[in-house]
Amino acid sequence: MTDQTITSVSREKRVFGPSAEFQRQANLGSMAAYKRLYRESVNSPEKFWDRQAKDLLVWRKPYTDVLKWKAPHAKWFGGGTLNVAENCIDRHLGTERENKAALIFEGEPGDVRTITYRQLYFEVSRLANVFTDLGVGKGDRVAIYMPMVPEAVFAMLACARVGAIHTVVFGGFSAESLKDRIIDCGAKLVITADGGWRRGKVFPLKPTVDEAVAKAKCVEHVLVHQRCGNEVPMRAKRDIWWHEATAEVANTHKAKAFTSEHPLFILYTSGSTGKPKGVLHTSAGYLLGSKLSSKYVFDLKENDRYFCTADIGWITGHSYVVYGLLSNGATVFMYEGAPNQPGPDRFWDMIDRHGVTIFYTAPTAIRAFMKWGDEHVKKHSLKSLRLLGSVGEPINPEAWMWYHKNIGKKKCPIVDTWWQTETGSIMITPLPGVTECKPGSATFPFFGVQPKVVDDLGHEVPLGSAGKLIIAQPWPSMLRTLWGDDKRFKETYFSDFPGIYFTGDGARRDEDGYFWIVGRIDDVLNISGHRLGTAEVESALVAHPKVAEAAAVGRPDDLKGQSLVVFVTVKSGIEVSDELKAELRNHVGKEIGAIAKPDEVRFAAALPKTRSGKIMRRILKQIAAGQLVKGDTTTLEDFSVVAALQAED
Ligand code: WTA
Repeated sequence: MTDQTITSVSREKRVFGPSAEFQRQANLGSMAAYKRLYRESVNSPEKFWDRQAKDLLVWRKPYTDVLKWKAPHAKWFGGGTLNVAENCIDRHLGTERENKAALIFEGEPGDVRTITYRQLYFEVSRLANVFTDLGVGKGDRVAIYMPMVPEAVFAMLACARVGAIHTVVFGGFSAESLKDRIIDCGAKLVITADGGWRRGKVFPLKPTVDEAVAKAKCVEHVLVHQRCGNEVPMRAKRDIWWHEATAEVANTHKAKAFTSEHPLFILYTSGSTGKPKGVLHTSAGYLLGSKLSSKYVFDLKENDRYFCTADIGWITGHSYVVYGLLSNGATVFMYEGAPNQPGPDRFWDMIDRHGVTIFYTAPTAIRAFMKWGDEHVKKHSLKSLRLLGSVGEPINPEAWMWYHKNIGKKKCPIVDTWWQTETGSIMITPLPGVTECKPGSATFPFFGVQPKVVDDLGHEVPLGSAGKLIIAQPWPSMLRTLWGDDKRFKETYFSDFPGIYFTGDGARRDEDGYFWIVGRIDDVLNISGHRLGTAEVESALVAHPKVAEAAAVGRPDDLKGQSLVVFVTVKSGIEVSDELKAELRNHVGKEIGAIAKPDEVRFAAALPKTRSGKIMRRILKQIAAGQLVKGDTTTLEDFSVVAALQAED
């Protein structure tokens, strides 16, 4: 967010409530009902969650405890067993949902497939049988590196079905990043595709997997889905074609039950230090959180067609493409490719053709649509839409208003949902039939969530003041630990305020109690809604033989929220040049992935440091943003370094 938008956020006074028509049909239609349920959910959490768990989940064996909390470790629904895939598929069979579309898929070239719940059962069963034949079962890790195609969803659900733990790695990550994740969790199986369609071309995935797996001894097999038909080298014994393997097995599968706390997936996300963290989510609590929030936040109805633009490589894709929606028996529309292929109206065209009713995307996408021009939107009616959502970063009021007018035609409520990979499900959000929204505010907490804005000592700050955002009580879909690193889990989330979850975000509440998320206050950047740690970028840069030191900072960007600027000092004797800038950008792309390529590389003779040698990022941020360096500079070791950097502007 730019300073300008922060100002406009704090001046934002407009309020938009749901229409009477929306309110009448909503799953929850009054503020009084929200308040009553919310109060119960935080005052008697065990009673509230017990009722939800019984209502919403199919259990094989009933649980005996709702919650055991010994900070920072939570155990939800102890003693109970269930199967997550059964909750997303089998429970709908034998009901009127059996022949309902679970997934409607449109590939970038325009190919369309509809998969009913019954077909989903067959597809997932086949794959589960293949897993069993390959010796992949309970507790084994499976890495999924796929385009946005239905097979990616089948793969996740098949893991859940056999009790294997999936780790989905976004297809834009490099071989190096994929290898690190595979090795960190010790994946035995990697599932991929020959490629995916992106901007009219095949984006090959298998060569990247080959490069990663060459250095990851733990991998026994690579299962390859044929999506594009591009040439793919297959290694005998190790590599298996999906269509060949699934053709030979039964299309039914009897699922075993697993305990509530059985690990469901690991999802790697950037932190403020070191390598990405493997956030671990478990079965029952995660499923309950994603299911309950989907039902109320998206006001799900039997006839909805729901379209979330997130890739399944991110938490939004996990909770709000797969688990939360399919467990509710919803119809999910899924699109493979770029939003502007063949033209900037691709989404609007698909929404009209498929009758999409609920649309969930990120502010960075909304700002891109604004930039591309209203005329692309006007070509389509969008009359099927009834609800809009936003996620991933603070939405600036200007983008909110544009979304409201141009996409929502002033009649669709907008849910601005705040949450994180770690929280598993939506935490602060409007409820569409209830909340009077203020553009730019995520408004109020969801059931069972107790957010507080506090100072460094953990005391709540007065309304209107900014502070750190913490969550006071455990909730069912919270992360349980970081894979293989419980110490880092405690240090990262539960040490600023012992025993209490710290989000890493700053926030404030206004005089009406609305929450306004300010953004990360640690060294994590939010670039186009994607999290990126400055430490990761810096360690990629210093791994380059010509680089001596590097510092990465975010610069406010109208389109991407933040853009990535890196300051680099080179080793002595190295000439700086534009070619070297390009080389360094590509180097970071190769180390981490295209999303991490710096927008700007700046060479410096030295970096501003404290007397104890710590790089002063605060100062670099100001320089990157073209501002005059303000604030306390007395701890700077040498001010001439700053003067030199500023002189370059
Ligand atoms: C930011 C994405 C403001 C926030 C689901 C958080 C938001 C980080 C919002 C998590 C929102 C997400 N308003 N900021 N509605 N949603 N964020 O783990 O800084 O990829 O900590 O999860 O995104 O990003 P993550």
